[in-house]
Amino acid sequence: MCGIVGYLGTEQAYPILIKGLKRLEYRGYDSSGVALLNEGEIEISKCRGKVSDLEDHLAGKVPEGVVGIGHTRWATHGPPNDINAHPHASGDGTLALIHNGIIENYATIKEELINRGHVFKSDTDTEVLTHLIEDIRTKTGVDLFEAIRLALSEVHGAYAIVVIDKKNPDMMIAAKKSSPLVIGIGGNGEFYVGSDATPIVEYTKNVVYLEDEEVALMDRKSGLKIVTIQNKEKVPYIQELEIKLETLEKGGYDYFMLKEIYEQPRSIIDCFRGRMNLQKGEIRMSGIDDNEEKWINAKRVIIVACGTSWHAGLVAEYLFEDIARLSVEVEYASEFRYRNPIINKDDIVVAISQSGETADTLAAIEMAKKQGAHIFGVCNVVGSTISRTTDSGAYTHAGPEIGVASTKAFTAQVTVLTLMALTVAQKRGTITDARLHRLIAELNSIPDKVTEVLKTNDQVEYISDIYKNATNALYLGRGSSFPVALEGALKLKEISYIHAEGYPAAEMKHGPIALIDEEMPVFVIATHGQSYEKVVSNIQEVKARKGKIIAIVTAGDTAVKGMADHVIEIPKTDETLVPLVSVIPFQLLSYHIAVMRGCNVDQPRNLAKSVTVE
Ligand code: AGP
Ligand code: GLU
Repeated sequence: MCGIVGYLGTEQAYPILIKGLKRLEYRGYDSSGVALLNEGEIEISKCRGKVSDLEDHLAGKVPEGVVGIGHTRWATHGPPNDINAHPHASGDGTLALIHNGIIENYATIKEELINRGHVFKSDTDTEVLTHLIEDIRTKTGVDLFEAIRLALSEVHGAYAIVVIDKKNPDMMIAAKKSSPLVIGIGGNGEFYVGSDATPIVEYTKNVVYLEDEEVALMDRKSGLKIVTIQNKEKVPYIQELEIKLETLEKGGYDYFMLKEIYEQPRSIIDCFRGRMNLQKGEIRMSGIDDNEEKWINAKRVIIVACGTSWHAGLVAEYLFEDIARLSVEVEYASEFRYRNPIINKDDIVVAISQSGETADTLAAIEMAKKQGAHIFGVCNVVGSTISRTTDSGAYTHAGPEIGVASTKAFTAQVTVLTLMALTVAQKRGTITDARLHRLIAELNSIPDKVTEVLKTNDQVEYISDIYKNATNALYLGRGSSFPVALEGALKLKEISYIHAEGYPAAEMKHGPIALIDEEMPVFVIATHGQSYEKVVSNIQEVKARKGKIIAIVTAGDTAVKGMADHVIEIPKTDETLVPLVSVIPFQLLSYHIAVMRGCNVDQPRNLAKSVTVE
């Protein structure tokens, strides 16, 4: 799980690599490095820390060369330090390699290579690849491309690699299995490589998404050649990129996370635009329309996802059961994949993933596919592995999400899942026209309501200041506000490192109530709806133990105001759609607390945006 970038062309590679690494830094950021090929020599510069630390480390001595590779690491094997940082060189120093993923059988290969005299410098699994390629090349006399193909046929695990070689200054070689890799084709024999398209989009729109077990030779003279590990030549499928450069920049905000929080009115519109017809009171989701029979006859929906996407899945459970009368199970992908779950032919598996690259979700999909289920993907990143692996699906169209803490991706996922539930309900005849019209109109008004909630930012900042030094926090909600409580707690812990837990409000009395004292902030979603009175009783229980209540309430509420320490008002909406608005203050709260505590909001410690290892 790291960022990979490569360039072969006519321009100086270093600025292109550094810019690309900064765009990819969300993927991993414990160390970084570059290798440039210049006048027959490879110069490797790398160090622990962020890409800006690498720039400081170079102290203005910019490495030269028109061929180069760069890497930002998220350590799996060996601590983050200067030596373990990528690129890694082969023992004879002829080649340099960057790697994203895990070589599972690295220990066995390493032992064999050590027995044959190879000396290793780092603790990484990656270095084993460089030595293995070198070993095969010297032993058999094959060219570099063939040596890489043969080496990769010996390894198990996941990899996206890029290799440059002193002996072949006109080429760069890339390969992948289970980790993403995109090749950009520029003019004048230029090539770009990236873990995703963000480092490439500025230079070219023509890209090839490498498939698993493919090795790509990028040659200044002969162009692009792709061969599988099994030695079968493939015709490169060149696609046009849709992503815009402006959407990758911070646009005046201090952090991507804040920018992304504020983008939500727009991203929710982008998500339902073209799918929802307000006048006709109709919803069209082509991924469902094209598989109408499957959805009509489905007995069950199994949702697989991780983290925030799993929380969106929990919201969907309420939506599908209530609106489409379809039974739903929501599973952690990482647990589901290792169970022996019962999957029937008339089950539909819905995989939710912002990045579309999450290893556990991908593995859960593959397992369900083998058992004959129809797989529907809900992804944000266009062209991502999951979006290409599923049978059908719907993009969330939230635009690139760079902040590690998911915000706009969550509301876009919930929007898509709402549209899905409504579409299925239409087809299954489980919703009245009147309710459908009402919900469509209400969904249409959500972006304006989110804009309203964003106006509470100053008030949320004020509340954040009061609770910024808390060591624990509790988040409570009932019904579909329970997943929002989980999401609020996840946001707080992942970026501000305050321990937080989300609970169904009524469960509090079965244990967590013991934690409540005057130090404990309790964030409660107490909006109007069928559980309102019950939640009010839960608030009383907290107050009786001197806990601090910060409640999210429906505009105009007076009852909760009388008992809570703080209330944040959100506009009234249909109970079904409350998560889309109630999550916003929690996103803002965690953002402000993280900033006040001096935390790195966009790149919290130990985390990475795209978790491509299990
Ligand atoms: C969210 O804030 C987290 N960074 C994380 O839980 C994330 O949602 C999870 O890793 C799943 O990622 P995905 O949606 O890209 O599959
Ligand atoms: N397994 C490699 C390492 O620990 C690569 C990790 C990554 O994908 O960043 O260096």
